[in-house]
Amino acid sequence: MNAAIRAVTRVAHSKGLQVIGFERGWEGVINNNFRHLTPRSVGGIIQLGGTILHTARCPEMRTPEGIQKAAKTLCEHNICGLIVIGGDGSFRGALELSKSCAVKMAGIPATIDNDVYGTDETVGFDTAVNTAVSEIDKIRDTAISHERIFIVEVMGRQRGFLALTVGITVGAEVIIVPENECELDQVVETLKANASKGKKAGIIVAAEGCGKVSDLAKEIEKKTDSEVRLTILGYVQRGGSPTARSRLLASLFAEKAVELLEEGNGNWAVGLQKGKVAAIPLEESCNGNKHLDLKMLTLADMLSI
Ligand code: F6P
Repeated sequence: MNAAIRAVTRVAHSKGLQVIGFERGWEGVINNNFRHLTPRSVGGIIQLGGTILHTARCPEMRTPEGIQKAAKTLCEHNICGLIVIGGDGSFRGALELSKSCAVKMAGIPATIDNDVYGTDETVGFDTAVNTAVSEIDKIRDTAISHERIFIVEVMGRQRGFLALTVGITVGAEVIIVPENECELDQVVETLKANASKGKKAGIIVAAEGCGKVSDLAKEIEKKTDSEVRLTILGYVQRGGSPTARSRLLASLFAEKAVELLEEGNGNWAVGLQKGKVAAIPLEESCNGNKHLDLKMLTLADMLSI
């Protein structure tokens, strides 16, 4: 987020544009709470997790009253373009708002869930993947030395992008994602087959959208001879210094978003498509359903024999 705020501010200033940043996301737009952003005021933040502007879930933005208040703020400031940095919920807010005011909108996809349609990758995803991987590598030490099965729940809301990438890159024995129905018996069978080959330790990476992992842990323990432990990684995945890749994506997306607004184009979502920075209509991004490549589960199976 900070890398994107910095890049938007500096690219815009380089083009002679003024920038203000709304505090706490949509809440700041609704309540006219903002600060001026200058090349100097965004100095020293590229390496910081979180966002200097703070953020908040904003249910009011889903109401007509909230939209009207937000539109009023933008008109009062004579704003010509609004860059929204966030996930599909933030994008939907921008799309709704665009129906009530003439301000041009551009979306920069930024969420650890990587579930925004129209971009291969979102800002922050790589950071969250790397955080989860380094934590699970440590968990594997106990798994191996104590010959235990660990279930590690990662975030991702209702989607399995984070779990799938993390699962493959930690060498998980089983990956459970909401997009693929997973039978308990199948998991148990895999673990038993592994044990019979002398592989008694195991990591199961489960996406949070798959339901209660504590029940799964109890069931697996009941049906195998293994000790099963559960770790819910939680909010560590949302913080920490961004990786170089997340910073780079934030910078490239910001440049594209400012360019689009400068050229007078409204309602676009920027993103990465086949390695190139691109843009699709915001509406398409809001309505699209991003595909999770389930073939990667087959690869994960082959890699964990
Ligand atoms: O969308 C990002 C995310 O971290 C999800 O992975 C997670 O389910 C959710 O946000 C947590 O939301 P909150 O901060 O509102 O608890």
